[in-house]
Amino acid sequence: GAPVEVDISKLAPGDRMTVEWRGKPVWILRRTPEQIEQLKSLDGQLADPNSERTAYPIPEYAKNTGRSIKPEFLVVIGICTHLGCSPGGVAKGSGNASVPADWPGGFLCPCHGSTFDLAGRVYKNKPAPDNLEVPPHMYLSDTVLLIG
Ligand code: FES
Repeated sequence: GAPVEVDISKLAPGDRMTVEWRGKPVWILRRTPEQIEQLKSLDGQLADPNSERTAYPIPEYAKNTGRSIKPEFLVVIGICTHLGCSPGGVAKGSGNASVPADWPGGFLCPCHGSTFDLAGRVYKNKPAPDNLEVPPHMYLSDTVLLIG
């Protein structure tokens, strides 16, 4: 599949867009400063906070807390690593009964309840074994991303 160029200039803090790459949905999330900050406090609740597992290759530039080149932008494949369902976004304070009351925002898989933080890191004791996959990508400019 050909690489996909994405204009991210209209993506507001806290918003997410989805583009298709190789037939897969790729999410681009622009995190707010608060969302970036809270990622650091979640490590103890996560199955693989530092992306050390090798189920699939993780680019070197994604081996950090935010799993990203730039702290502000997360780029991940929006497919659950359990059996391939599509997780949905659940905002902080949404009151969704399938996530804990102190949920800081993230993603919930509707199939078997796996949850992921705003870096796509999977929470412990959930059926999904791995963090969401980070596709190869790079920035062509401040506002143009190349996926693939
Ligand atoms: Fe997502 Fe099973 S496919 S939890």
